Amino acid sequence: MEQTIAKVLRCEDIAQDIFLLELSAPGIARSAAPGQFVHVAVPGAGANILRRPISLMGFDAGTGTLSMAIQVKGEGTKRLRALHPGDTVDVLGPIGRGFELRGARRAFFIGGGVGVAPVRGALDAFSGACACEAFFGYRGKAFAYGLDGLSCPVHVATDDGTLGESGIITAPLLRALDAGAPDMMFACGPAPMLRAVQRIALERNIPCQLSLEERMGCGLGACLVCNCKVRAADGFDYRRVCVDGPVFDAGEVLFDD
Ligand SMILES: Cc1cc2nc3c(=O)[nH]c(=O)nc-3n(C[C@H](O)[C@H](O)[C@H](O)COP(=O)(O)OP(=O)(O)OC[C@H]3O[C@@H](n4cnc5c(N)ncnc54)[C@H](O)[C@@H]3O)c2cc1C
Ligand code: FES
Repeated sequence: MEQTIAKVLRCEDIAQDIFLLELSAPGIARSAAPGQFVHVAVPGAGANILRRPISLMGFDAGTGTLSMAIQVKGEGTKRLRALHPGDTVDVLGPIGRGFELRGARRAFFIGGGVGVAPVRGALDAFSGACACEAFFGYRGKAFAYGLDGLSCPVHVATDDGTLGESGIITAPLLRALDAGAPDMMFACGPAPMLRAVQRIALERNIPCQLSLEERMGCGLGACLVCNCKVRAADGFDYRRVCVDGPVFDAGEVLFDD
C-alpha cells in the first residue's frame, strides 16, 4: 500500500449521478488486485475530513492508470466530481482483500448499481482465465454503466424496465443457474441484492464471494468503524471490512435482519 499524489486523467459523467474518475497512480496500479479499493482524500477539505473508500473498476500496471465509477452522494463525492484533468488528488491504496479466481473455469459476475464497478473490474481481470457471464442490475437505463466492450454473455435488469428485463437481477441469475451452475460467483451491490445472492449460493452450494460496503474511518484496520458480522463456531464474530474484506466468502457473512 502507498500514499501518492495522483494526477487526474479523466473526470466525466458516465451515467446519471455517476462519473468516471481516471487517475495516474503507477505504484498503486502495479500492486492492485480486482476487488480492492483506494482511500481518496476529499479535495479541498482539511486533513481531519475522512478519506472516501472507492473500489477500483480498473487498473493497468502498464500505463499506471486507475479507474473508478463514483456515485455522487454527499460533499466528498461532489468535490471529487469537480476535479478536472491535470488536477491532483491524494490517494492511499490499494487496500483490502479482493476477489480471488481460485482456479474457477466458469464464473458469474453479479453487480448492482455502483457495485457494478468492482465486479466489472474483476471480470476484465479474470476474463482471460475463465469463461465469464455478467449479470448487471440498475435503477434504470439512465443509471447504466460498465456495459461497454463486454464480449461475454451479459444479462441486464432494471427496476423500471427501461433497459434489459424489468425487475431484479437475481431473476436472470436464477434462470442461468438452472441452465448450469458456474464454479464461482462474484457479487457487489446493495445489501438486499447481496443477501439474495448469498441465499442462492448457499442453497445451491456454489462458491461465492461478496464485496461489502460499510462506512469507514481509517481504512487501515485501526478504528473498527467498518466492522461486519461473520459466522463463528460459537455464534458470530466481527471482521473489519477495510482490511479483512471488503470481499468475504458468502458463507462467512452474517447480514443484520
Ligand atoms: C470498500 C468500499 C468501496 C466503495 N466503492 C465505491 C465505488 O466504487 N463507487 C462509489 O460511488 N461508492 C463506493 N463506495 C461508497 C462511497 O465510499 C460513499 O458513497 C462515499 O464515501 C460517500 O461520501 P460523500 O462524502 O459523498 O457522502 P457522505 O456525505 O459521507 O454521505 C452521503 C450519503 O452516502 C451514504 N454513504 C456514505 N458512505 C457510504 C458507504 N460506505 N456505503 C453506503 N453508503 C454510504 C451516507 O449514509 C449518506 O446517506 C464504497 C464504499 C466502500 C466501503
Ligand atoms: S475503517 Fe478503520 S478499521 Fe476499518
